[in-house]
Amino acid sequence: MNEVIKLLQSHRSIRKFTDKDIAQDVLHELIKCGQAAATSSFIQACTVINVEDSTMRQTLVALAGGQPYVASAAKFLVFCADMNRHKRVCDMHNAKMVSGYTEQFITATVDCALFAQNVITAAQSLGIAGVYIGGIRNNIAAVSDLLELPPLVYPVFGMCLGYPAQDPEVKPRLPLAVVLKKDRYRDACDTQAIAVYDDEVRKYYQNRTGKTKVVTWSEQVAGMLIKEARPHMQAYLQDRGFILK
Ligand SMILES: Cc1cc2nc3c(=O)[nH]c(=O)nc-3n(C[C@H](O)[C@H](O)[C@H](O)COP(=O)(O)O)c2cc1C
Repeated sequence: MNEVIKLLQSHRSIRKFTDKDIAQDVLHELIKCGQAAATSSFIQACTVINVEDSTMRQTLVALAGGQPYVASAAKFLVFCADMNRHKRVCDMHNAKMVSGYTEQFITATVDCALFAQNVITAAQSLGIAGVYIGGIRNNIAAVSDLLELPPLVYPVFGMCLGYPAQDPEVKPRLPLAVVLKKDRYRDACDTQAIAVYDDEVRKYYQNRTGKTKVVTWSEQVAGMLIKEARPHMQAYLQDRGFILK
């Protein structure tokens, strides 16, 4: 295995950080790594907001459902899918932008995900670590107001970054056979493979939590998917000018 593969396979989300800040030139390099990711049709539809203001950070802790590391991390970045920039560009050419296509929503969102994953991977290569914060979508309208986002921009997720003050085990992933198929989709053997994986995840949680959390992957997923998933999202996105047609 080479160093890149080792780095990718050693990923863990980190939620406890030292007080050490991330230097501005380092942050700029990380963002350049994000920009270097592939981008659908060269649209470059990701804008990152680096939230430095401590009062805003505290507000974001609450808006993200009470996640204290949003304030304690050296940096908190919000990755925004941004088609506002493209409206401006069309205006530069007196072209009337036809916005609101689901396709545009998908491409801008995918752009953000690729950008962000490059940022966190580059960070990890420098001994920095972090965690994505999808929790900001709990109160996405309030987050958008706080960050003064214009129409055609929405915050896809946040990301805490800092120097790690914890060293958790790598979380086991699904068996390869469940996620890699040959030629056609075949899932007949997946239930059995997932049962074996469930044992592995149960042991992982037992070790990590000193036996206070005893749950398998499938139990966790089933527990989550019987609940509503942020039902405000559709109306919010429509209000921002996304997913109308
Ligand atoms: C888009 C996205 C949103 C996430 N949101 C949160 C979050 O709000 N809070 C949190 O603690 N972890 C969050 N996570 C981290 C996941 O829980 C974590 O990646 C997953 O449990 C696997 O663990 P690992 O990253 O340590 O391998 C998020 C991850 C992703 C990709």
